[in-house]
Amino acid sequence: MSVVELFEPGPAPDPRAAHEHVPVIELRGLSRTFPGTPPVEALRGVDLRVGRGDYVSVIGPSGSGKSTLLHILGLLDRPTAGDYLLDGLPTGEASDEDRATLRGGRIGFVFQSFHLLPHRSVLDNVLLATLYSGVPRAERRDRALAALDRVGLSHRLDFLPTVLSGGERQRVAVARAVVSSPHVLLADEPTGNLDSENSAGVLALFDELHRDGLTLVVITHDPTVSAHAGRRIRIADGLLTEVA
Ligand SMILES: Nc1ncnc2c1ncn2[C@@H]1O[C@H](COP(=O)(O)OP(=O)(O)OP(=O)(O)O)[C@@H](O)[C@H]1O
Ligand SMILES: [Mg+2]
Repeated sequence: MSVVELFEPGPAPDPRAAHEHVPVIELRGLSRTFPGTPPVEALRGVDLRVGRGDYVSVIGPSGSGKSTLLHILGLLDRPTAGDYLLDGLPTGEASDEDRATLRGGRIGFVFQSFHLLPHRSVLDNVLLATLYSGVPRAERRDRALAALDRVGLSHRLDFLPTVLSGGERQRVAVARAVVSSPHVLLADEPTGNLDSENSAGVLALFDELHRDGLTLVVITHDPTVSAHAGRRIRIADGLLTEVA
């Protein structure tokens, strides 16, 4: 039996409330060393607990390990030592297939450079994110339309991302990230390519998602972005420090 099956007792009425006491994210002595001469210790034995509904920012200089951390949290990479529990599930023991299932169903991503499919419409970009996420087929279109309505893009459904403004593209990416009701939204420099007005729009959306109970981890260089978060974590040289 796979790790996912083991920990999925069946559909809960509200998955976000199902394990109230279990942190969404828990890192225990987690390290990520990249091989080389010399090897790079990008994360050095870090501990972190992110509870349900937390809004956490991670701020630190270039090369400090921010993207490495986000890739591990997003199950896109594996640590070289230590444990990562997602919703209490020990992800280190999970197969690649189980990790993909967890990622599709529980994690939403927003990247600095949007990562939209250029030859697919706005609606298709959001719809495609529902494919491997456990959203029933019959609900996919309505969910995608609702997500795009939420980010104020109902009037751009048939547009290609290439003709949208940067702010609009990032709002499509946010709709795509939340369409499957993830347990956590991970963002890597989400406002890095945006002007101040569009940054403010994306941050307002994050605030709204947070008010609705979503857990957010946002990686940034920008103090304006981290000011929105309820918890601020500084990363330097592969080590984390909570800022009071
Ligand atoms: N695949 C890799 N192989 C070797 N070293 C790597 C690899 N990926 C990252 N590193 C190194 O690990 C360290 C942390 O990199 P990371 O990308 O996490 O930094 P970052 O904080 O995201 O920086 P930035 O703000 O510039 O995006 C850096 O020293 C980097 O050179
Ligand atoms: Mg980075």
